[in-house]
Amino acid sequence: MRIVITGANRGIGAGLKSAYTMRGEEVLGTSREPSGDLIGCDVTDPASVASMAEAVGDGPVDLLICNAGVYLDKGAPLDGGYDARLFQDSFAVNATGVFLTIEALLPAIRQSRGRIAIISSAMGSDWRAPGGSLAYRASKAAALNIDRNLATDLRPEGVAVGIYHPGWVRTRMGSEAADISVDEAVSGLVERFSALSMETTGVFESYDGQTLKF
Ligand SMILES: NC(=O)c1ccc[n+]([C@@H]2O[C@H](COP(=O)([O-])OP(=O)(O)OC[C@H]3O[C@@H](n4cnc5c(N)ncnc54)[C@H](OP(=O)(O)O)[C@@H]3O)[C@@H](O)[C@H]2O)c1
Repeated sequence: MRIVITGANRGIGAGLKSAYTMRGEEVLGTSREPSGDLIGCDVTDPASVASMAEAVGDGPVDLLICNAGVYLDKGAPLDGGYDARLFQDSFAVNATGVFLTIEALLPAIRQSRGRIAIISSAMGSDWRAPGGSLAYRASKAAALNIDRNLATDLRPEGVAVGIYHPGWVRTRMGSEAADISVDEAVSGLVERFSALSMETTGVFESYDGQTLKF
């Protein structure tokens, strides 16, 4: 398989890159700061996304994993904790960035009737509403909506789209207090991505196989 993973320089993205590389897959990881074999890509910048797609080249992409994300309003208080920029920056990465990445790589994904996996979050579910983190939740909810609709748009072409919650994971974003290691999240996610097919396109699932409500 030829696999592209955004935000592959650390955290869950780096874990996915190692896991697939160990399985002998061809993995093209991206990073805002290109280094080693990582291709440069800031998902908020259309020119950067276009040059990443050029670097990926004409060959087919069997699996695109949109993993890059930001959580800018962790612990922000409702009163005075939010400004317009916080919402803009969250949406630029977590929603628009996901769309721009998919749009740029779609010709390569279409070639192999490939699959698209989006790392969103249970925090994007409208059904769960514990309060707080309004910009993060709203941007991840927007990603869920975009991706559900893309699943419909791409169904006639045989391209499956899945949306995943990786668990609460010990990364810079998740913190040391989180429930599970990167390895646990990655092994669950790899299984979920393998199960993604035209029968399951549009799923919203946790790394451990639980179906999540939108
Ligand atoms: N950890 C959790 O508990 C948890 C829970 C639910 C969902 N998630 C989701 O899982 C995904 C990975 O999270 P993580 O825990 O691995 O977080 P992380 O360790 O903070 O890593 C985030 C990754 O996204 C990249 N990124 C941020 N802004 C970017 C941009 N504008 N363009 C390209 N890449 C960008 C970062 O690159 P830089 O190094 O350049 O900043 C980094 O590679 C995210 O989508 C996150 O929302 C995580």
